[in-house]
Amino acid sequence: MSQISRGLENVFIKTTSLTYIDGENGILRYGGYDIEDLVEHTSFEEVIHLMLYGDLPTKSQLQKLKSSIDESYEVPQQVIDMIYSLPKDSDAIGMMETAFSALSSLYGSPWNKNNNRENAIKLIGRASTVVANVLRAKEGKKPIIPEPSESFAKSFLKSSLSRTPSNEEVKAMDASLILYADHEVPASTTAALVTSSTLSDMYSCVVAALAALKGPLHGGAAEEAFKQFVEIGEPQNAETWFRNKITEQKSRLMGFGHRVYKTYDPRAKIFKKYAKLLSENNDNARKYFSIAQSVEDLGIKTFSEKRIYPNTDFYSGVVFYSLGFPIYMFTSLFALSRTLGWVAHVIEYVEDQHRLIRPRALYIGPLKREIVPIELRG
Ligand code: CMC
Repeated sequence: MSQISRGLENVFIKTTSLTYIDGENGILRYGGYDIEDLVEHTSFEEVIHLMLYGDLPTKSQLQKLKSSIDESYEVPQQVIDMIYSLPKDSDAIGMMETAFSALSSLYGSPWNKNNNRENAIKLIGRASTVVANVLRAKEGKKPIIPEPSESFAKSFLKSSLSRTPSNEEVKAMDASLILYADHEVPASTTAALVTSSTLSDMYSCVVAALAALKGPLHGGAAEEAFKQFVEIGEPQNAETWFRNKITEQKSRLMGFGHRVYKTYDPRAKIFKKYAKLLSENNDNARKYFSIAQSVEDLGIKTFSEKRIYPNTDFYSGVVFYSLGFPIYMFTSLFALSRTLGWVAHVIEYVEDQHRLIRPRALYIGPLKREIVPIELRG
């Protein structure tokens, strides 16, 4: 049994130049750049370039990348129809999976070093169209193809929310896209890698990743964390709620704890800053931010001894809610950003480190048994 690492804890399945995490000290870097600096000084498009080409772009490289994204928003009508054919109360990630399965049947081409990156950029552009239309279909609005604008974040907000966002909102969306863009090899990225290891196509890797992301222990946590704040209702209820739910019933505090971080998740700090900023203009959002702060204080008091702190999903929901997204979209917004990390990792794996991922299971059942005829069993 000593050969088994439960949950693959501390198992390294690849090398990477994409993302560095120091979980002891709460450091996260993409390609050597601190996450705080990337959010402060760059855009999601620049981070796409960093992840796919190894460095931040020059002005002309950025222009070229933006043009490629702008050209990739168009997706075939059949894919949009598929999203709209599902009932409005369908799960948003399930709808994304459906759309990506359809895209895989249309664009799932063999891996090729000469166009893997271009394909990845197209996939990210299409993801924006898919997520915007998942929201619109669920809200009973007409389908849309995002229009090119100054930025990916702005085009996405405009197309999904049918309004022109403020500069502050665009900056917050862009920050969120960067913060969720990659995180080394969590469950979803590992699912994508396993899929790529069979040389399945890039879109199928995203379908596998989406399926893994959806669970409440991973990407689904942002929705669950925010639902806690809604359940609490008013800041003055936080303490009683925490005592009943977390201390006495021993429920997990959602948006807290992490396999790698044993201190405050650096992304949570940045999300908190944007949550505070954006929620100031909206009474309900301000209330939820205040509840979140109280829960955070109680959580840290209770769990810091076990080195359990807020993770990235704790405050992101307040940002998404302040932007006007319904709770059921939070995981899809995470997924939109993370398509970058998924495709960047599978490209890195397929191009430089490819080998079929085929682990073993240690057999512990009966070693050999004789079949008893059915009438004699029992
Ligand atoms: N609330 C209460 N107790 C917790 C929590 C939590 N959020 N997280 C871990 N623990 C406790 C757990 O009960 C266990 O205690 P004991 O040793 O006494 O049995 C101990 O910590 C270890 O838990 P584990 O589940 O073995 O640890 P893990 O490394 O698998 O945990 C985790 C990682 C994310 C699954 C867990 O912290 C968790 O369930 N958190 C809540 C869900 C969440 O916020 N997920 C988002 C993760 S970060 C973003 C992402 O990947 O999407």
